[in-house]
Amino acid sequence: MSIRFAIITCSDTRSIEEDTAGAALATLIEEQGWQLVSHIVIPDERAEISRAIVEAADELKAEVVLTCGGTGLSLRDVTPEATQDVCERNVPGIAEAMRSYSLAKTERAMLSRAVCMQRGATLVINLPGSERAARENWEAVYGQLEHAVAMTAGAGH
Ligand code: MTE
Repeated sequence: MSIRFAIITCSDTRSIEEDTAGAALATLIEEQGWQLVSHIVIPDERAEISRAIVEAADELKAEVVLTCGGTGLSLRDVTPEATQDVCERNVPGIAEAMRSYSLAKTERAMLSRAVCMQRGATLVINLPGSERAARENWEAVYGQLEHAVAMTAGAGH
């Protein structure tokens, strides 16, 4: 089964060339045989992040949007708020699974405020911004994404 992904890296300082976390996620998506429809880097601006999520979901028809970065405690970290602004339903188990898996690797995982939510039929997953952290959080959840997308599309278990 193929899944359409979009990656939105949220960073005030990073260019697309410097976005090693986004590039690593792109490779991990392709390794599964899934499709990447867009990869952008935008600043940590709440309205801009929300707009990018809406575009990925509604126009590009991404089934899974991965945001990368902006989930920490800095006052510039606004990705969870931007996600909540444009999504309707919380999917708390995915964020719980990421933090639980990550806490076994570093106690700093408790500093992630990531949320996972649905905008219509699009699943939005907040990942942390460092390459290592993004990879580790991906490891925690990618195995359930085909089932999640199939359920959203109306399949049963
Ligand atoms: N999760 C994993 N698996 N590995 C990590 O190194 N870093 C944490 C956390 N989650 C980390 C992790 C740290 S230090 C922070 S501040 C938060 O993710 C938020 O990161 P962000 O602000 O880049 O989104």
